[in-house]
Amino acid sequence: MSGTVLSTSEKALNVGLLGFGTVGSSFAEVLAASGRSDIRITHVYNRGIERKKTHERAKFVPSGAVWTENVDDVLTSPNVHLVVELMGGLDPIEGWLRTALNAGKHVVTANKQLIAYRGSDLFALAASKGVQLLYGAAVAGGVPVIPGMSQGLSGDKITRISGIVNGTCNFILSSMETGADYGEVLKKAQAAGYAEANPSADVDGFDARAKLCVLSRIALRAEINPDDVPAQTISHVSAIDFAYAKELGCTVRQVSRAQLDGDKISARVGPMLVPTTSPIAWSHGTQNMVVTSGKFGGDVVFSGHGAGGHPTAVAVTSDVLAIAEGSVGVRLPAKKVQVSGDVLAPHYLRFIVKDSPGIVAAIAGALAHVGINIDSILQHRGHTGDRLPFVVTTEPCLSSTLEKAVAEMSKMEFMVEPPQVMQILVVDDRDTD
Ligand SMILES: NC(=O)c1ccc[n+]([C@@H]2O[C@H](COP(=O)([O-])OP(=O)(O)OC[C@H]3O[C@@H](n4cnc5c(N)ncnc54)[C@H](OP(=O)(O)O)[C@@H]3O)[C@@H](O)[C@H]2O)c1
Repeated sequence: MSGTVLSTSEKALNVGLLGFGTVGSSFAEVLAASGRSDIRITHVYNRGIERKKTHERAKFVPSGAVWTENVDDVLTSPNVHLVVELMGGLDPIEGWLRTALNAGKHVVTANKQLIAYRGSDLFALAASKGVQLLYGAAVAGGVPVIPGMSQGLSGDKITRISGIVNGTCNFILSSMETGADYGEVLKKAQAAGYAEANPSADVDGFDARAKLCVLSRIALRAEINPDDVPAQTISHVSAIDFAYAKELGCTVRQVSRAQLDGDKISARVGPMLVPTTSPIAWSHGTQNMVVTSGKFGGDVVFSGHGAGGHPTAVAVTSDVLAIAEGSVGVRLPAKKVQVSGDVLAPHYLRFIVKDSPGIVAAIAGALAHVGINIDSILQHRGHTGDRLPFVVTTEPCLSSTLEKAVAEMSKMEFMVEPPQVMQILVVDDRDTD
């Protein structure tokens, strides 16, 4: 431990910061800019702390703060009233935050995995200790979708949430919409720091489904295990899909969606065809967009910068300010709910086939066999016969029924690669799902 602890006067709110990385260092700057001299960082914990002390944003940490490599200096200090966790991951973070809550400290975190997988127990612990656990930055970074839903929309009965909660996928797909190649734009996203070296958490939908579960708890009051939500990769979406989507008046986005269906929930994350008239199609680059549908209030759209140090730090600082002001927020109970990935919706199927007679009849037959009607068949000219793309769209059908037909089609000998299947969003689809 080094340095000395700042004021312990009754009025001051002393903050112990865990993690001085992108968001942690930005939080120091944004909190300093708030002009609230009564709220101050008194402790900073990080590994390799000497390196962090020379960080360009270290100047925003008050001069008397303790910089430490020993987390207990923060967790057990009676001078720390609130712990801000900006490290990420499940373990050992959960245990550390339990220690903080048990010691009667408030906690603010941006950690979506922790809240999605372990949130309910942590909320119960915080409530039992009479302290707050806020996580406004855990979904959509700087877009106040969590406080907006938990406070401003708590009076409505929200039946559906849908939107774009992964900026990396939105950057990739909105770049592909204007002609970029998947592999090249992924490399660009990695170079710009939007995407990890291993992009699986983003492109395969695992990050988005954790966020969807965080939102479902607040908006739909449903506890869902993220592992139960089907997630489909965007890595098989190609330029051809954008060309056909355009013809159908749509574009392609990674959409996260959860809908109350009686006492069940249907939820899914994956690439979907989105009509260009839907606000979900309008988000470009790393923007996030969440649309809630309420029984009484109708649709509400949240949109803005979903990630980045400063936007995310704004959400963290707002939570800290809310706690400093004694705001207790609206607490509504959530219960464990069964999840189904099955959705009744029109679907898009893109095939790459080796040209031969009878292909359309074979595909139509596989769909008819499970009772699915074709809505349209599209084929662009100019492709070679050994890799011929074409598209079939269906009338609304259950995704589980369609999967049976697709399994049959995948075995057909003219199929060059497995069919790409995507749900088609309908702008007002209250009647179809
Ligand atoms: N970045 C965003 O745009 C964004 C948006 C929304 C939410 N979030 C969430 O915010 C949190 C922080 O993200 P970030 O982007 O700021 O990450 P980051 O830049 O990697 O910062 C994490 C910091 O924590 C430190 N750290 C990590 N594990 C540690 C350990 N076991 N012991 C000690 N120090 C440790 C890291 O030290 P080293 O420097 O040594 O690695 C680093 O300084 C995550 O939960 C993330 O999901 C981030």
